[in-house]
Amino acid sequence: MRLTAPAKINLALHVVGQRDDGYHLLDSLVVFTEFGDVLDTQEGAGLSLRVSGPFSDGVPEDRRNLVWQAAEIAAFCGTIHLEKHLPHGAGIGGGSSDAAAILRAHGGAARALELGADVPVCLSERPQRMEGIGEAVSAVSGVPSFDLVLVNPGVHMPTPAVFRALTRKDNAGMGVVPEHVTLAWLRGQRNDLEAAARDVSAQIAVCLESLHDAELARMSGSGSTCFGIYPDAQSAAAAAARIAAARPDWWVVATRSISSAG
Ligand code: C5P
Repeated sequence: MRLTAPAKINLALHVVGQRDDGYHLLDSLVVFTEFGDVLDTQEGAGLSLRVSGPFSDGVPEDRRNLVWQAAEIAAFCGTIHLEKHLPHGAGIGGGSSDAAAILRAHGGAARALELGADVPVCLSERPQRMEGIGEAVSAVSGVPSFDLVLVNPGVHMPTPAVFRALTRKDNAGMGVVPEHVTLAWLRGQRNDLEAAARDVSAQIAVCLESLHDAELARMSGSGSTCFGIYPDAQSAAAAAARIAAARPDWWVVATRSISSAG
C-alpha cells in the first residue's frame, strides 16, 4: 500500500490559554500540501521499518519513531518503508503526518492523540480548524488552494522551549472563520508562537525576510519552517528558485495546499 503524508501548515495559530497540566489551548487553521513524505506498507510477519530519502539522517528505525508506535496501535504486522522528504522538528508535522498515514490506512485513528497533539488533525488532508490542545478538529469549507513556498533555515526548534518563551497565553482566537477564507482575512490572523520562536533563534526573522515578496509570510507551528503565499505557481517557483540560490544550505520547496473542495 502506498501512503502519502503531506506537510501540515498552520495558516494561523493562536494560543488562547493553558491547561493545568501545562499544555496550551490552541485555535488554528491547518492545511496540508501536495508535497510530503511517502510510505509503503506490506503486510507480513513481525514489524520492521526502513527510512530513506533526503531527510532520513538521524530518523530512528525502531520504536522511537512515531510510525512504529502508530503501527503498534494499528496492530499492523509487516514492513514499512518511509521516504522522508520533510525536515523534522520543523513545525510542519512530518512525524505526526507519517503516523497519521499509518493509522488512516491500517486502523487505530481513535487513538491518534496518544501519539501527539498534532496527530488527530493529520488524519485528514483537508483544511481543518484545530482547537483544544489539538484533539478538537473540524473540517473547514471554503479554503482555496494556495500557492506556497516553504522555507526551513535548518534550525531545529524544540517545541517545548518555544512554548516556554511565550509571554502571553490568553490571546484572542480566530473568531468566526469566514465562508470563503481570503488572504485579507488570513492577514488579520497570527501565529502567536512566532515572537517566541524569534527569541529562541534569530534565523526565524531571516527566514521570514527571505519571503519578502510573498502576499503573506508566516511561521508554521513552532517553527522553524516559514511559508509564503504567492499569487500563482509561477511566482512561487520563481521565489523558491531565488531563495534556494541565495541560501543553498536551506530547504526550499514550492508546492500547493489542498483545498476544502478537492
Ligand atoms: O504533543 P506533542 O508531543 O506534539 O507536544 C510536544 C510539546 O509541545 C509538549 O510536550 C508541550 O510542551 C508542547 N505543547 C503544548 N501545547 C500543545 C501542544 C504541544 O504546550 N497544545
